Amino acid sequence: MPLVIEGVGKRYPGRGWALSQFTLTLEPGLTGLLGPNGAGKSTLMRILATLTRPTEGRVTWEGADLAKQPDALRDVLGYLPQDFGVYPQLSALEFLEYLAAAKGLDARAAKTRIAELLELVNLTEAAHRPLGGYSGGMRQRVGIAQALLNDPRVLIVDEPTAGLDPEERVRLRNLLGELSGDRIVLLSTHIVSDVEATAAHIALIHDGRLVAHGTPDELLARVEGRVWELAVRAEHLDDARRFWRVGAALRRGSDVLLRVVADEIPRPDAKSVAPTLEDAYLALVRDEREEHAGARP
Ligand SMILES: Nc1ncnc2c1ncn2[C@@H]1O[C@H](COP(=O)(O)OP(=O)(O)OP(=O)(O)O)[C@@H](O)[C@H]1O
Ligand SMILES: [Mg+2]
Repeated sequence: MPLVIEGVGKRYPGRGWALSQFTLTLEPGLTGLLGPNGAGKSTLMRILATLTRPTEGRVTWEGADLAKQPDALRDVLGYLPQDFGVYPQLSALEFLEYLAAAKGLDARAAKTRIAELLELVNLTEAAHRPLGGYSGGMRQRVGIAQALLNDPRVLIVDEPTAGLDPEERVRLRNLLGELSGDRIVLLSTHIVSDVEATAAHIALIHDGRLVAHGTPDELLARVEGRVWELAVRAEHLDDARRFWRVGAALRRGSDVLLRVVADEIPRPDAKSVAPTLEDAYLALVRDEREEHAGARP
């Protein structure tokens, strides 16, 4: 049994439940934790990284309960927090050497490991430059490198693509895809395309709850036959949004081409189209929102 999350809830004083009855088993490979802002992604990740304790429920790593034996997972864990900060005066090399020492890695082994990691994240050439001059993408790659120092079996990365340009985003996605293999990698994001191509599994989270979990194909199957395309006049777009569940809207001259999720054909001339993961995300999150309106939290 790898990493098992059972009925986990987290209540913050004054906020209520940020995470509720969350149950999920993480398998080796890349799992995308996909959800909007405030869904509870970082809360879940901080619980898995043993930085926060759940209010209820439990997490076990190979059978060991994290509440009693946090070190069981800590020893094999790599974590990149959402608010990862670096020391601007240090170079990437110095920073990684400093962290390796702080983690108690043997100095000689650390030297080899750091050289490998800098190569892996494509920072060998920049290794001696101060981090203060790095781009956002370069900093995130340093963040990935530090999370990999101990060759972790579980890698948790919290919104690593936030603020990156498209090229860096793709680069980071591919890197994380390559890193998964027989490691458990959990990647959080609110951007569907971050996980569309590389994630073996996707867990949809909304309002602290697990909305759906499965392979991308399984999630697509859940909205098959419920996605439609139709055009409306641009001035009717707001009405259309009130009336239907509208996903993507593409401007076409004075018309707007809409993707609508509906169980029945929304208008006689609507065309049934193959769902995208973006459609599945919108549909499943909205299903959940309607189902749980007024419920805890
Ligand atoms: N320490 C805290 N004290 C009180 N409320 C908190 C705390 N941390 C998070 N929250 C609240 O819990 C909810 C979930 O927050 P969390 O950071 O886990 O979401 P998230 O999915 O990571 O969001 P984002 O995409 O913005 O990073 C939010 O409403 C947030 O305001
Ligand atoms: Mg977050």
